[in-house]
Amino acid sequence: MSLVDEVNSRRTFAIISHPDAGKTTLTEKLLLYGGAIHLAGSVKARKTTKHAVSDWMEIEKQRGISVTSSVLQFDYEGHHINILDTPGHQDFSEDTYRTLMAADSAVMLIDVAKGVEAQTKKLFRVCKERGIPIFTFVNKIDHFGRNPFDLMDEIENTLGIHAYPMNWPIGLNGNYQGIYDRATASIELFEKDTSHGQRKLASTKGSADDPIFKELLDEDVHQGLIDDIELLDMAGDEFDMEKVKAGQLTPMFFGSAMTNFGVKPFLEEFLRLAPPPQPRKAKEGVIEPTNDVFTSFVFKIQANMNPQHHDRIVFMRICSGQFEKGMTVTHRQTGKTLRLMQPQQFLATERTIVDEAYPGDIIGVFDGGTIGVGDTLYAGKKQVTFQDFPTFPPELFARIRAKDSMKRKQFLKGMTQLAQEGAVQIYENLGSMESYIVGAVGQLQFEVLEYRLKHEYGVDLEINNLPYTVARWIQTNGHDYKDLKNIDSAMIVKDHKQRVVLLIANEWQTNWIVERNPDFTFCTTPDEM
Ligand code: G4P
Repeated sequence: MSLVDEVNSRRTFAIISHPDAGKTTLTEKLLLYGGAIHLAGSVKARKTTKHAVSDWMEIEKQRGISVTSSVLQFDYEGHHINILDTPGHQDFSEDTYRTLMAADSAVMLIDVAKGVEAQTKKLFRVCKERGIPIFTFVNKIDHFGRNPFDLMDEIENTLGIHAYPMNWPIGLNGNYQGIYDRATASIELFEKDTSHGQRKLASTKGSADDPIFKELLDEDVHQGLIDDIELLDMAGDEFDMEKVKAGQLTPMFFGSAMTNFGVKPFLEEFLRLAPPPQPRKAKEGVIEPTNDVFTSFVFKIQANMNPQHHDRIVFMRICSGQFEKGMTVTHRQTGKTLRLMQPQQFLATERTIVDEAYPGDIIGVFDGGTIGVGDTLYAGKKQVTFQDFPTFPPELFARIRAKDSMKRKQFLKGMTQLAQEGAVQIYENLGSMESYIVGAVGQLQFEVLEYRLKHEYGVDLEINNLPYTVARWIQTNGHDYKDLKNIDSAMIVKDHKQRVVLLIANEWQTNWIVERNPDFTFCTTPDEM
């Protein structure tokens, strides 16, 4: 296959949702239809152990949550699919945001009974900022749920994106029996599932005009469907692919991951509409995926995936060209030449060595500690620098130190490595060599830090939460930061690039301090400086 064909056959996307909306179940069903697994339930062992095999770390197993994001790959009818798994836990971290940087589109999963929830909103915002296409899957229509028109309104009002239903649930008062497909005006009624969704579901399909459906459906259900469709056609948005591509219109699907209602039609329609790997912005210009020269950026680093070996895997998204095992690339940030040996791809817990990979694919390579998150790797002579990842403003802060001062060396090493991995943001605590200040976007990041320092570096941490919620990077404009006024209640620290950061209790205090220091510029993230 040519590079163009390889690129066009790929779809790389993330599923974003609030915990419990059914992300694990949907992922599992997509793998089931893709033939990557044969019996659903093998990704997530039911009831007993509630974790997906995409969870690697021990802490994830203990808490039954997915802390790190991993990648699942499978093929479906000529498409190569990369699903970027984002943690569904409320206390998510920067890892989630970064993973979204590697996706070309997102599937927003919504529980039909609960609608748009808090976590969905946060993740949606990141996708919207990137301007990537967002597809909506309204899940759990096998049980009672909200009126689909209400859900459309909610999506439009709370997320500011118009929804175009591609299909429509058939049934009254949340008692759904099947799905009407708008493009083909056909109906699919599902057989009652007896296998708890473990096997592909049989169904009756046909044109909506087929008299059989009048017989199969109750009269008021049939009439209700006709009325709904009429209303949608008259009052709803037009389908506009350009708006979908720009992230202004979301194609909306109804289904049930557990019972397999509508999973296959969703997958097929999604693959048809979702974009193949897109061009990426670099400082030197836009890099087209079909450009022959290999380029990639690192969006995630996972140290100690195998604690016995202290390995460190760097995950990169290929942006252009062909990757070949053992190829030599340049690491843009250090200028070093590296050979990419033992590149890995992932199907759940199984890792396989890849011989070749293409734009849109995610590969992991071992690295001793040279490569950082956001870095660029490229082949060829022409320098390429993918744009820096945005820094996400931390909202939680803590002072940490090693309980045992004899462990200082391991403490420093662990902190440096985990900060480089992007597990937390770390700041220098002015006036103290023994402790650091760490910033995070979720409390779970501190817990992961504590757990990992103990298990991977043998260091017990003392963590003291600090009463700040706001960080401001200070642009001194030629002044000395020591001349900042009225900052008694705030704390001054320095980030890893020695930039001055002020930690402040809340927004109100922040405004107060800003007003009293007109000579300085207060930036929400270092990217603004
Ligand atoms: P998450 O990864 O987004 O957190 O959600 P997960 O797939 O774990 O699903 C959360 C719960 O919702 C699970 O129930 C799952 O079975 C259920 N679920 C997922 N899809 C559907 C659906 O289409 N319909 C219905 N009715 N339920 C669905 P659980 O009781 O927590 O676990 P389990 O005992 O079913 O494994």
